[in-house]
Amino acid sequence: MTKIAVFISGRGSNFTALYENIKKGNIKNAEISVVFSNKEDAKGLEYAKKENIPYICIPSKDYKNRQEYDRLIVQSLKPYNIDLICLAGYMRIVTEELINEYENKIINIHPALLPSFKGLHAQQQALEYGVKFSGCTVHFVDGGMDSGAIILQKVVPVYDNDTEETLSARILEQEHIAYSEAVAKIAEGKVTVKGRKVSIKE
Ligand code: GRF
Repeated sequence: MTKIAVFISGRGSNFTALYENIKKGNIKNAEISVVFSNKEDAKGLEYAKKENIPYICIPSKDYKNRQEYDRLIVQSLKPYNIDLICLAGYMRIVTEELINEYENKIINIHPALLPSFKGLHAQQQALEYGVKFSGCTVHFVDGGMDSGAIILQKVVPVYDNDTEETLSARILEQEHIAYSEAVAKIAEGKVTVKGRKVSIKE
């Protein structure tokens, strides 16, 4: 059983999509053991409470030092014996305190085709650049921003009349599919990573 911690800061639609897909049996041999939020008012926490999923909230605004904050996270996750951390709209850069403790066990979803359009407002960046296709990327988390090895990507078209909202909605639909697919493969033990190269057994 792959024990998952999902990290959120806001809406939490990727978290709920993962949870629903586990419930439906689309992701096998996995459970969301705990939800972690750095924001007390994260919408996703309401869903965790409603579904009786254990959650931890440590408001990051109270901590100046990122390392200290991540050490606290490591301590608070210990009792859950976590195998996989899924960052899902978690709006913080994680430090080596967390990365070293969970080597190759932290993944993230980003709303663009990396390595293009890293960071915030990736969908708006894509629109401004004028790309004809964008999408989402599930990747391992390393010390950089949106820079870890790529697990899988989904592509969507960009239309002339797209706004940040319409493009984001089209990408989000694919994010929910992509993240669940990636977690399912990891839970089945089919994902291996060597340097930047990730292979997925069919
Ligand atoms: C998603 O677009 C994700 O790719 C990005 O932040 C957003 C989070 O949305 N990292 P949600 O909280 O999962 O609804």
